[in-house]
Amino acid sequence: MKLREKKTEDYQGQPVRFFELENDHGLKARVMSYGATLVSLYLPDRQGRLEDVVLGFDSLAGYLGPNPYMGATIGRYANRIARGRFVLEGREYQLAINDGPNHLHGGLKGFDKVIWSAKPFSQSLAAGVRFSYLSPDGEEGYPGNLSCQVTYLLTDHNQLEISYRATTDRLTHLNLTNHSYFNLSGGSKDNILDHELQIIASAYTPVDANLIPTGEIKTVAGTPFDFRQTVRIGERISQVRGGYDHNYVLDNGRQMTLAARVFEESSGRILELLTTEPGLQFYSGNFLDGKTKGKGGRTYGPRSAFCLETQHFPDSPNQSHFPSTLLQPGEIYQSQTIFRFLTD
Ligand code: BGC
Repeated sequence: MKLREKKTEDYQGQPVRFFELENDHGLKARVMSYGATLVSLYLPDRQGRLEDVVLGFDSLAGYLGPNPYMGATIGRYANRIARGRFVLEGREYQLAINDGPNHLHGGLKGFDKVIWSAKPFSQSLAAGVRFSYLSPDGEEGYPGNLSCQVTYLLTDHNQLEISYRATTDRLTHLNLTNHSYFNLSGGSKDNILDHELQIIASAYTPVDANLIPTGEIKTVAGTPFDFRQTVRIGERISQVRGGYDHNYVLDNGRQMTLAARVFEESSGRILELLTTEPGLQFYSGNFLDGKTKGKGGRTYGPRSAFCLETQHFPDSPNQSHFPSTLLQPGEIYQSQTIFRFLTD
C-alpha cells in the first residue's frame, strides 16, 4: 500500500489537501479535503490497463464552478426534503431551498462545499484518509452542532470503503452519502446505457414531479424499475420519464450486504456495492448537460455516468413510515458503504 500527499491548492486563503492511495494491485484513489471528495479512481480493465472511472475535474477550480456534486460527500441530508421543512419537538425548521421549492443535498453550502480537516493513515493491508468537519448549530437551517467524520479506506482486496460517523448536541436529522459519478468504460464510452446493472431491491419509492416521494413503497415487479435480474441500463430507460432518478428500498435492510452490481462489457470492469444503508438512489446522470468541461477538457453529457448513492429515503423527516433519520444527542451515527472492484 502507498499513501502520498500530493499537491495543496488554495481556497479563500485556506489550504485544500490532496491525497493518493494506491494498493498493491495498482488501484489508485485520489481524495481531497474540499467536500471530502473522491477526485479519481483508477481501476484496471481485464487487460490490467488502468483508467479513471469517475467524473470530475483536473484541479480545484473546476469543482468550484458549476458542479453537480462530482465525487463529493453529501450532507447534512443527501437527496430532497420537501419545501426544506420539518418539525422536531413541536418546532418547525426551515432549511435552505436550492432545488425548485425543495432542499437538496444539504442546501446552498452543503458538506460538498466546505473544507474538511484531513488525517491520512496506513494499516498493513490498507491506507486511508479520515476527514472531519464540525457543522455549527443552524448551518443551512439544521439544528445542533454536528461533529462529523468521513473515512476513505482503500484495501489490498480491491475495495474502497467509505465510513461515516457523527454525533450531535441537539436532536437533528442526518443522511450522509457520497456522490461519485461512474463510467466503468474509463471514458471510451460516452454514455452508460450499455452498462449492465443489478439492484437487490424489490421496491422503490415513487416520486412526484419535483422528485419528492409520494410516500408509497411500490413493488418493482412488472416495471422498468426492476433490476433484480441484471439488465442493461438503456434497455427500458425511455419508459421512465426523465430517466432513472429513484430511491430503491434495499431487500437486505440495514445489514452490510450486496446492494448493487454493475458490469461494463468492453472493459470487463465490475463494481459491487455493499452498504449498511436501507436505500439506494440510482441516478442515470439525466441532468448532466454537456456544458461542463471536466477532466482533460472532456464534456459530460446526459447519461455519461451513473450514481449509486447509498442513503436513507428522500424526505424521511416528513414521512413517518420511512426508516428514521433522527439523530439524538448521545447517540452515534454510523454508516458504511463498500465499493468492491473486479474484472471479468
Ligand atoms: C439527484 C438528482 C440531482 C443530482 C445532482 C442526484 O442525487 O437524485 O436529482 O439532480 O443528484 O445533480
